[in-house]
Amino acid sequence: MKHFLKETDFTPREVAEVFALAQSLKQQRGKTTPPVLQHQTWAMIFSKSSTRTRVSFEVGIHELGGNPLFLNRNDIQLGRGESIEDTAKVLSRFVHGLVVRTYDHADVERLASAGTIPVINALTDFLHPCQIYADAFTLAERWGKAGDLLGSLKGRKIAFLGDTACNMANSWILGANLFGMKISLAGPSGFEPSAEFNSLLGKEGFAGGYQFTEDPYEAVKDADVVYTDVWVSMGKEEEAKERIKTMTPFQVNKKLFAAAKRDALFMHCLPAYPGKEVTQEVLDNPRSIIFDQAENRLHIQKAIMAKLSELRGK
Ligand code: CP
Ligand code: NVA
Repeated sequence: MKHFLKETDFTPREVAEVFALAQSLKQQRGKTTPPVLQHQTWAMIFSKSSTRTRVSFEVGIHELGGNPLFLNRNDIQLGRGESIEDTAKVLSRFVHGLVVRTYDHADVERLASAGTIPVINALTDFLHPCQIYADAFTLAERWGKAGDLLGSLKGRKIAFLGDTACNMANSWILGANLFGMKISLAGPSGFEPSAEFNSLLGKEGFAGGYQFTEDPYEAVKDADVVYTDVWVSMGKEEEAKERIKTMTPFQVNKKLFAAAKRDALFMHCLPAYPGKEVTQEVLDNPRSIIFDQAENRLHIQKAIMAKLSELRGK
């Protein structure tokens, strides 16, 4: 059973097919959509807040002819201690796919191995692969040409600023290596990408790796994309004061953004906290593409679900 728990769960060929499908689904939206999830229900178990992920999956499942079933973790017996394995086995008898947002990445892996339906990672503390695919698709749409969307990403440089140990940083390291991009991360000492992450990168056999620096200006030099994320991810609220203090030098403001390439794009997965990780001025810059990223969550996730359905049982 094929799952989408991390960026590299699709082969490079499948990734290219997912991107091409997302482009065609985007063009067809509102006209025709293949009913690839017809007569199917996909459950969505969320243990954390969400605007974009929840809405884009619910709308996307509906637009593919399926029925989305939103389950807050605390409303089902999982929240009262029923095991992940039993939950996966029971849900597999009722629904055709599972979209999961949770804390521990091992939980999505356990759901995937205990059940008999495809599981999609809708964010864990470790990775946010749906966001990275949407982000890469957004860049490919701008830079790519028909028939070779992904080729346009090769050799481009992304700079990731701020919380360089969070799920978005980890996912972008995997994503950059998958898409042939260069990545420089700048964050405070102690926020280097984790050792756990390094071993995954080694296991996936990537040559490119990443650069880590404590100098934000070094990271953005020659960057095609300047990316940041919240300094206080969901679950890290108790560390808020300390994080805001140590991450302030990494704020993406007009001066730092101007130190990247002249035509560099600004990206943020959202939600954003203006005045913290980024200034309102940068969010409003004509080269800020934050809402294109948000919209593309819908198109890429529809393509991911369609691909998993096609590969079901293979
Ligand atoms: N970017 C993202 O995943 O947003 P939500 O938390 O609103 O889903
Ligand atoms: N790093 C953030 C991403 C939110 C989409 C978090 O985990 O809260």
